Amino acid sequence: MTVRQAMALLCTTVAILSCSRAPATSSPKPGSGPTTAAAPAGQAATAPVRRVPPSRDSLAKLRAVFVAKVMQDIAGRENQPAEQVFKNVQVLKGITAAELVQKMDKEYATAMSWNCTNCHRLAPQGNFASDTSTDKKRARFMQQMQNDINLVQLPKLYPKDTPKVSCATCHRGYNEPAPPDYLIPERGKPGGLPVLPPPGARPAAPPPATKSAR
Ligand code: HEC
Ligand code: HEC
Repeated sequence: MTVRQAMALLCTTVAILSCSRAPATSSPKPGSGPTTAAAPAGQAATAPVRRVPPSRDSLAKLRAVFVAKVMQDIAGRENQPAEQVFKNVQVLKGITAAELVQKMDKEYATAMSWNCTNCHRLAPQGNFASDTSTDKKRARFMQQMQNDINLVQLPKLYPKDTPKVSCATCHRGYNEPAPPDYLIPERGKPGGLPVLPPPGARPAAPPPATKSAR
């Protein structure tokens, strides 16, 4: 499958996915056209609309196309070192080619909720080795930072059974890791402080006596 074919397949998948996310008020069968509206009223009322919930991570399906393509391209060499099979592996050395592809899909892309094409701009570049994408370079830096945390820093604190961080430890599906106050619930939300009354309804400031009572 050429890159162009892969892109076409992707576009189709995206189109289908966006159709299936149409609001409930739209025609139950997207694409079935005006014939649905012309159906007898009784029939429309009795036929239950089966709503298929959108998949939790539909990007996984888009990525599967790229994973399959790469695995096809390296068929027979999956278990050779990644740095020998691929052209531009600078950090992820010492794992097999198949492991690198799995890492891309299950760690990099999943931690960010990204498609492969967020880091590999395949349309202009046409290959996975190119380094012109800023996000690919950022991700490589992140891998170096993570190696430093896991192989240099954490072993100082835990020489035995050293714990490890992964992309998901920090990113948890977002580009930017959550700020430290994300654990504090908002006012009015369960566990949070009560919502403040509107300014006019607030009681007058407490008298100075309250202060000395402490
Ligand atoms: C968050 C950014 C990011 C995402 C998302 C990502 N990659 Fe990568 N990919 C990289 C980086 C960085 C490297 C280079 C690693 C290194 O230098 O050690 C790389 C390298 C590769 C290589 C080796 C290319 C070569 O010839 O050197 C392949 C193949 C690859 N990725 C496939 C994929 C596939 C398939 C997906 C989607 C399932 C994907 N990548 C998703 C960042 C990403
Ligand atoms: C120790 C926490 C931590 C780990 C581990 C980590 N990251 Fe990050 N990452 C960050 C922070 C913080 C930023 C900066 C986010 C911002 O722009 O505010 C960032 C930014 C990024 C960006 C740029 C995103 C953007 O939109 O600017 C990419 C891509 C990225 N990380 C990929 C990865 C990948 C891939 C891994 C695993 C190899 C990883 N990160 C591991 C904390 C981490």
